[in-house]
Amino acid sequence: MMRQGFSILILAAGKATRFKSDRPKLLHPLAGRVLGEFILRTSLQAQPDRIYMIVGHQAEQVRKAFERPGLAFIEQEEQLGTGHALIVARAVLEQCPSPLVVVVVGDAPLLESATLLEMVETHAKARAACTVLTTVLQNPRGYGRIVRSGGNRIRAIVEERIATPALKKIREVNSGILCFTRRELLKYLDGLSRDNAQKEYLLTDLVAIFNRHRLKVVAHRVSEAKQVCGINDRAELAQVEKTLQLRKNQMLMREGVTITDPDATYIDLDVEVGRDTTIAPGVSLRGGTHVGIGCRLESGSTISDSLLGDRVIVRPCCVIADSEIGSDAAIGPFAHLRDSALIAPEARIGNYVEVKKSKVGKGTKALHLTYLGDATVGEGANIGAGTVTCNYDGEKKNPTVIEDEVFIGSGNMLVAPVRIGKGSYTAAGSTITEDVPPDSLALGRAQQVTKEGWVREHKKVKPHKPGPGQ
Ligand code: UD1
Ligand code: CA
Repeated sequence: MMRQGFSILILAAGKATRFKSDRPKLLHPLAGRVLGEFILRTSLQAQPDRIYMIVGHQAEQVRKAFERPGLAFIEQEEQLGTGHALIVARAVLEQCPSPLVVVVVGDAPLLESATLLEMVETHAKARAACTVLTTVLQNPRGYGRIVRSGGNRIRAIVEERIATPALKKIREVNSGILCFTRRELLKYLDGLSRDNAQKEYLLTDLVAIFNRHRLKVVAHRVSEAKQVCGINDRAELAQVEKTLQLRKNQMLMREGVTITDPDATYIDLDVEVGRDTTIAPGVSLRGGTHVGIGCRLESGSTISDSLLGDRVIVRPCCVIADSEIGSDAAIGPFAHLRDSALIAPEARIGNYVEVKKSKVGKGTKALHLTYLGDATVGEGANIGAGTVTCNYDGEKKNPTVIEDEVFIGSGNMLVAPVRIGKGSYTAAGSTITEDVPPDSLALGRAQQVTKEGWVREHKKVKPHKPGPGQ
């Protein structure tokens, strides 16, 4: 059968009272994206003629987050219910080129585009005026209940708040995803009213209205209840996050990634991980992170929007953001890389080392208690324990350049802007304020003064009194 053309209308104007949030519900993070991104991607995948999104509550923010080619926004200034959203869209729907209009709620992230297409097919086959995507739930609380009238026909949808105890026992529910024949939708849309216990224009009332006019309303029931779950509060959001997390982990394991404890490993959907990489519990991989082949990510590290080469080792409890790590490098434990830290292959960044907006060359080591900020460090250099690049003069950030094969002694303060030439050494405990030419030794510390016998002398003046218990 030829598929009938359809357009999709996404409802995203509601206030989401149950979220108790200053942020629009559809902009709450979910597995590295935002909640509303899911239904939008599903809609795009279904390749409809047009996609419209109804926005209202905090419309500007929602618009900005979802703006993309092929998506048109419709403003619902006052949000008087899902039916009102359609009333507001009337002028646009009148111009819509498709014979069918699929209405989807914005808060159903697990819906798949294949299901949308199957519903459209059911609709066409049944020559229905409206097709409702339904499912059967163990606990149908909060959902509109499907009242059947024999065969596959639906007589009405009754909202939870309006339903009698008998109707509440019905476990087949409305997903909030419905397909309409556009002509009939426009013809009967004005029949909606707010004259109900919810004092809202309920989109679901159209089902009874259609029945009154002897128009056919049918069900397209899916067995996978998860696909149509709507997220109304943060507990439901957490459940879906868990589902997506386990799915992602399963997929990676099938592709050859070892995940020791998939329940305790948090990987955003857009993250990529190469085969033979092993990931220990408590690791979070966020945003657009890409991990190469054969890496070892030990417990408790969070890596976001970063690129890791192959065979990289990240020891426990590192925080890595917006950074790049070359192949065969080792990081941590307890290292912090951020703001474009670029670590070349085979480099080693050790414990309590922070690297900010700096390049660290191939094979270079900074293994203990060090801060590298706005620095460029060459290849094969050694940065002694406790070294600090003093990059901030109180007004602006200044660069430090450490050339290839430099040896920085322990406990150095490198006061930027400063350059240490190739192959040079700096003495332990130095404060380096001037450039050091190549192949030199720089000592930047006060001459040691030792006063022999000072303690004895001192005690004569102020004799040591033994304390209690001594
Ligand atoms: C809705 C359905 C219910 C169904 C459930 C499935 C109605 C009346 N009820 O209930 O039958 O079981 O979804 O998840 O349709 N919105 C607007 N404008 C408004 C009000 C809401 O655009 O004026 C949008 C919201 O942003 C949201 C969607 O419509 O994305 C659904 O609204 P919501 O309040 O979550 O409806 P439910 O009570 O879940
Ligand atoms: Ca909802």
